[in-house]
Amino acid sequence: MKGPKEFSVPRLGTGTWAWGNKVVWGYDISMDAELGRAYEAARRLTACDQASNGAGALFDTGDSYGTGRLSGRSEVLLGEFGERHRSEDDDGEGEEALLATKLATYPWRVTRRSMVSACEASLRRLKVDKVGLAQIHWPASNYNPLQEQALWRGLGDIYDGGLARAVGVSNYGPKQLKKIHAYLAGRGVPLATCQVQLSLLSYGPMQKELVAVCADLGVTLIAYSPLALGLLTGKYGEGGAKAPTAIRSLAFRKAAPKCGPLLRELERVGEECGGLTQGQVALAWCVAKGTVPIPGAKTAAQVEQNFGALGADLTASQCAALERAAEESGARVQQNIFQTE
Ligand SMILES: NC(=O)c1ccc[n+]([C@@H]2O[C@H](COP(=O)([O-])OP(=O)(O)OC[C@H]3O[C@@H](n4cnc5c(N)ncnc54)[C@H](OP(=O)(O)O)[C@@H]3O)[C@@H](O)[C@H]2O)c1
Repeated sequence: MKGPKEFSVPRLGTGTWAWGNKVVWGYDISMDAELGRAYEAARRLTACDQASNGAGALFDTGDSYGTGRLSGRSEVLLGEFGERHRSEDDDGEGEEALLATKLATYPWRVTRRSMVSACEASLRRLKVDKVGLAQIHWPASNYNPLQEQALWRGLGDIYDGGLARAVGVSNYGPKQLKKIHAYLAGRGVPLATCQVQLSLLSYGPMQKELVAVCADLGVTLIAYSPLALGLLTGKYGEGGAKAPTAIRSLAFRKAAPKCGPLLRELERVGEECGGLTQGQVALAWCVAKGTVPIPGAKTAAQVEQNFGALGADLTASQCAALERAAEESGARVQQNIFQTE
């Protein structure tokens, strides 16, 4: 997928919210060696995906990722893994990773300069001079329109100042997306991406409209939580395992008991496709909708399985059957409270 000049996005990325997050994901520093292997697997598999047209491996992160003393840990780990990768890349010919960070809309970030400073701090943690993609993590328009204006200006300044190859937004609905797109276009800044919660359990009117608006504007739509926090892998559904942390149990509480019919349909389509797992079918569905899914992963095995989704090319009737099963199950995951229209 192409955005601004010299910016391209692979067909599938890797989410790193869990890297440093004890509260939701049960992270512990003893997991770092395996996270490093997950990082290398994502780089290798992106390079092997011919249809990604030479785009670097996409890692989605954020300056708010990492809990408590581990604040910023996800960016720090990506910085360390990237540095090690560069030192081991003998000929220096390998594609650069596409580091996509999100700058949090903290209440104290109320000036355009504070966005630029935030991006500079991310660059230090990520150990790069320029980030692949800088995104506004969530809009402030619903509760602080003045701050929202500062975020837009700051994002434009980040691009103009050469701190990011491209810029994007997250948790913006179609209306708000059109507004920021027009503002940035007026400054000659291309809006490359829009990131939203999108999966078979999060595909309502807003997401459907966003798919159409992004296609119209030439903005790449990034699908976050494409596995519904792991629910669509089948391991936590009806009669499945208990979620590893209390917060995830809470997130699954309403959807898990209802998603049996959808999980069975994912299994059926997986068999039709020659033996894909339920999670792989869920990711292949995101790709078929024209989005770039960024499944979170904590092990190399999960990354390898997730990239296996790219081997499938779901038909329109398989997609429709999956959407019908999702609709009929009545299962939905909680929407992000900051998501706008
Ligand atoms: N912009 C935003 O506001 C926002 C919000 C949320 C997320 N995001 C981004 O989107 C990324 C992905 O979303 P997410 O992490 O919330 O949820 P997700 O991708 O729907 O689910 C990720 C979880 O599913 C499980 N999993 C992944 N691959 C698997 C496999 N092959 N087999 C079995 N289990 C597998 C893992 O957890 P277990 O192994 O523990 O089950 C993993 O942590 C995040 O990491 C973050 O970068 C952005």
